Amino acid sequence: MDETDPVSGGGLWGGRFKEGMAEAMEPLNRSLDVDRRLWREDIEGSRAWARALEGAGVVSPDEGSTLREGLHRVEERLSSGIPTGVRDEDIHSLVERLLREEVGEVAGKLHTGRSRNDQVATDLRLWGMRAATRVEARLDEVVESLLGLAERGVDLILPGYTHLQQGQPVRASHWVLSHTWPLLRDRDRIRNARDGAGILPLGSGALAGCPFPVDREALRDELGFHGLSENSMDAVSDRDWIAEFVFAGALIGVHLSRIGEDLLLFSSREFAFLRIGDGYSTGSSLMPQKRNPDVAELIRGKAARLHGNLTATLTLLKGLPTGYNRDLQEDKGFLFDTVDTLMMALPALAGAIASIEFRPEGVERARDPELLATDLADVLVRKGVPFRTSHEIIGALVREAEDRGVRLTELPVEVFEAAHPALAEGVREVFDWERSVEARDLPGGTSRRAIEAQLLEARRRLATETTKHLDPIGSSSDE
Ligand code: ARG
Repeated sequence: MDETDPVSGGGLWGGRFKEGMAEAMEPLNRSLDVDRRLWREDIEGSRAWARALEGAGVVSPDEGSTLREGLHRVEERLSSGIPTGVRDEDIHSLVERLLREEVGEVAGKLHTGRSRNDQVATDLRLWGMRAATRVEARLDEVVESLLGLAERGVDLILPGYTHLQQGQPVRASHWVLSHTWPLLRDRDRIRNARDGAGILPLGSGALAGCPFPVDREALRDELGFHGLSENSMDAVSDRDWIAEFVFAGALIGVHLSRIGEDLLLFSSREFAFLRIGDGYSTGSSLMPQKRNPDVAELIRGKAARLHGNLTATLTLLKGLPTGYNRDLQEDKGFLFDTVDTLMMALPALAGAIASIEFRPEGVERARDPELLATDLADVLVRKGVPFRTSHEIIGALVREAEDRGVRLTELPVEVFEAAHPALAEGVREVFDWERSVEARDLPGGTSRRAIEAQLLEARRRLATETTKHLDPIGSSSDE
């Protein structure tokens, strides 16, 4: 068999085989189309490994620098793109083949004590740390946009909903902030996933560890990881951090689709609470009047992919025997897709939110004084009536208004008085939106003061430093 055949191992593993790879096996075996994105990380890892081998006395200082310079030239070649039509099995075999083209036989020394099992785990973790930093930056932009919208909504009082029925009044900011906190928690989850990725597997070999005295601490330091894997068998099979990353992505999907759903409802003619900018809307090819808030639907749709990637990752990992298994080749696609989806959806959402204008006239039209029924019940409570009794009394008044076909505010004072003498006075003042929201002044409430505290705290969280030490190089893109 031709030892240099890129399909059948390209000199990586062909030695024990008499025949080349079956044609039908090739596309199943090849992961280059997916893992090509790891080219930069593969070269960085290899460069660090060359230095480690030199430190361990496995390669001479001359050979070590030849390998590193060769890898540098491979990097230059690949930075202008991976040539189309290359038939290498994966990015690791491609880089090694190119290195051999650059430096000749000494390239064969680079893989000493290393396996593609610890190599791919290392490459992907490096990529994952950087991807997490990029996702976090995009999340920050959405949070920033939401905070801007919250600031624009302090004076506007919306009906707040439960069961999609009007419940109690809230400041528009309160609604916006209710979407902001989940994203701030997502940001912590993405940071945790990055921390999870920051454990170096290199030096684990195929499963049993490395028999040469390489300095794993130095490798860790050079590659910007914060810890070393504790067990080589675990290290080559541990994909927990990927599961955590795609879970964080899936939950972001939940949060984005909830924002999307609210935006769709609130921008509809029936609600008409807000308007999303033209730049984030589309028209209809048939109905000339249509103006669809597609951004919200597209983002809600993208959540399906994010959820799929989580399910796929967990399913992939379930039931594998100990150690590296080739199934794991699939892991990258799910992670890449989650990151790509987030990197596409988050900026669109940030822009769409920044483009939102509230429509106070629409809000005004929708607000029903019934939303103040709880405040009315509280009037009686303040006079010593047990809340359950008071609830009953006000409930009957709401029914009365409904029977008469009038709004709660339009019932004559005598009707209120008849319901309970304590309602004789002070009822009219209760029908005041501002008063209702201002009454909810505890931390976490919807009074102006409570909202301002939320805004301040959210801004403080947003400003907390990212864990930059985990992202030493090349954080801007992976192509
Ligand atoms: N392409 C492989 C992957 O993504 C690299 C590791 C291959 N290891 C092996 N023992 N065949 O998982």
